[in-house]
Amino acid sequence: MVDFMAMQETRNFVIIAHIDHGKSTLADRFLEITHTIEKRKMQEQFLDTMELERERGITIKLQPVRMSYKYDDIDYTLNLIDTPGHVDFSYEVSRSLAAVEGAILLVDATQGVQAQTLANLYLAEKQGLVIIPAINKIDLPNARVEETQEEISNLLLIEKDQIFKISGKTGEGVEALLQEVIRRVPPPSSNKLLRKDAGNELRALIFDSSFDAYKGVIAYARVFEGSIRQGAKLKLFASGATFDVLETGYFSPQLRKSDILSEGNIGYIATGFKDVGLVRVGDTIATTDVTMPLGGYLEPRPVVFASFYPENSDDYDTLRDALGKLKLTDASLVYEPESSPGLGRGFRLGFLGMLHIEIISERLRREFKLSLIVSTPSVEYHVVMKNGETVNIRSAAFLPDPSAIEHIEEPIVQMELLTPSTYLGSLMQLMADARSEYVQTDYLTKDVAILKYRAPLAEIITDFYDQLKSISSGYASMSYEPAGYRAGDLARLDIMVAGDMVEPFSKIVPREKAFYLGRKTVEKLKGIIPAQLFTVSLQAAIGGKIIAREDIKAMRKDVTGYLYGGDITRKKKLLEKQKRGKAKMKEQGRVNIPQEVFLEMLKK
Ligand code: GTP
Repeated sequence: MVDFMAMQETRNFVIIAHIDHGKSTLADRFLEITHTIEKRKMQEQFLDTMELERERGITIKLQPVRMSYKYDDIDYTLNLIDTPGHVDFSYEVSRSLAAVEGAILLVDATQGVQAQTLANLYLAEKQGLVIIPAINKIDLPNARVEETQEEISNLLLIEKDQIFKISGKTGEGVEALLQEVIRRVPPPSSNKLLRKDAGNELRALIFDSSFDAYKGVIAYARVFEGSIRQGAKLKLFASGATFDVLETGYFSPQLRKSDILSEGNIGYIATGFKDVGLVRVGDTIATTDVTMPLGGYLEPRPVVFASFYPENSDDYDTLRDALGKLKLTDASLVYEPESSPGLGRGFRLGFLGMLHIEIISERLRREFKLSLIVSTPSVEYHVVMKNGETVNIRSAAFLPDPSAIEHIEEPIVQMELLTPSTYLGSLMQLMADARSEYVQTDYLTKDVAILKYRAPLAEIITDFYDQLKSISSGYASMSYEPAGYRAGDLARLDIMVAGDMVEPFSKIVPREKAFYLGRKTVEKLKGIIPAQLFTVSLQAAIGGKIIAREDIKAMRKDVTGYLYGGDITRKKKLLEKQKRGKAKMKEQGRVNIPQEVFLEMLKK
């Protein structure tokens, strides 16, 4: 039996915000007000649990929490799930949003609306969530409350007095905001995913997971229909796996066991699985007789790739084991072994985005004490062949014979940039350099513009973000989402050392930048390949045509040093001999490139 009363008194919500706008701090205040965590036990930012997150001040992993709060003499259950505020994880954000009925839109009064605020707001509106806007950090002397109010009011088409003004730090206005959540966010029974004819079926949406050595993979889920008890036999739609519920309960925020996880609620389900790949974000957990999943599931798809090599080749096994362990907590991480004569053994990893690369490499360094060389990230290309076939490649080494290629397509993203109007000009120049396609400009207020572009992902994943920040003095922000593939004028750039092509240096590059990139590569190589006894040529080539060249001068060994006195003929003779030797060497002409050179070239 469904307990409609309990459902009426439940509220499921999220806080959406740009990075650093104060989401975790606000959540902490909620935990205090609801006495979920005693004040003296309160560590700053309780919901950010990973050490790395705490240090970097970014939320990577969402930690949900259930709170109890009495309002108007009614005891409410409030489920707050935290969302990652970064573009890399927008699919995860969308699944968190699908699990709730309302969202607090939090904007830092010193920063105003930012690109990520918009991106997440659109996602929330798409899910039909009730949006409660709040301006945070009003305690700060440089708070621009008026301007921020205007931005939000234009964005949501609401009156300014409907926007809450709070300080997550001092607690001002926070309790009133929580009460507004109760008043305005509808109870779970209103959710559009709920089917009235569901009967006794169970359907729950997975929005996150974690791993426990004893309980196996733990699914974090929102129950839409039915309820979950320990021992129940359930199935997962995407992976097709079935399991008996080992344990179920809710988040306090630690896992707290409960006999039942009831309809409309948010909690966890211990599956006993050892393979995290079976429990995927966005998948539906259901009783075995259910034939329809909740919908909206997408396979996690890596979009950027990078090679990881241990600096010390003896660490290869440690790296392999470490990746296996990380995979246990991060199903979106994919990797495969890779090796080359120059580099030795390493791995090619696939990621959701740039922050994801940073998180993984940082965790490998910290948690496993590994020194790593991480390559410049790249994307996946679709190579359309003349015979009509399409080959997907992630590295220039796999590019088929150019004469058989019709064209090459590269991934495109839809970008949104938010910027104070003063930086419009330099921002447009930056976008032009990034081979982008202009879409449109909108104005949030007269001082804040929203620029829309379509651009190749490959241009965005290098140092684009740093450039954006530097030309806008830190004020511009961006968000992007995948927007398919587009044919590009791309070419394979090869590097020859002493006439031999060195495959690990080959790259797929835009033809218009090939010249510049080729030149840069040979210049860099010149500085790091050790001099030989003969002159070494370094050449960059596109389709067999040399576009750049540098020479490393021969190292001159003083073969006459031990002679003293004036026997000029002997000296000449020796020098002649040396010259012949060099010519011979050059004929045999191979440079043994040390591994350090390859590793150095991999670095950004
Ligand atoms: P991400 O999880 O990375 O998206 O950040 P967040 O939105 O959780 O922000 P967080 O709560 O970590 O706050 C960012 C910084 O702003 C921290 O240094 C907080 O102490 C500070 N902060 C948050 N709220 C307030 C506030 O109301 N007033 C002041 N003065 N500082 C605040």
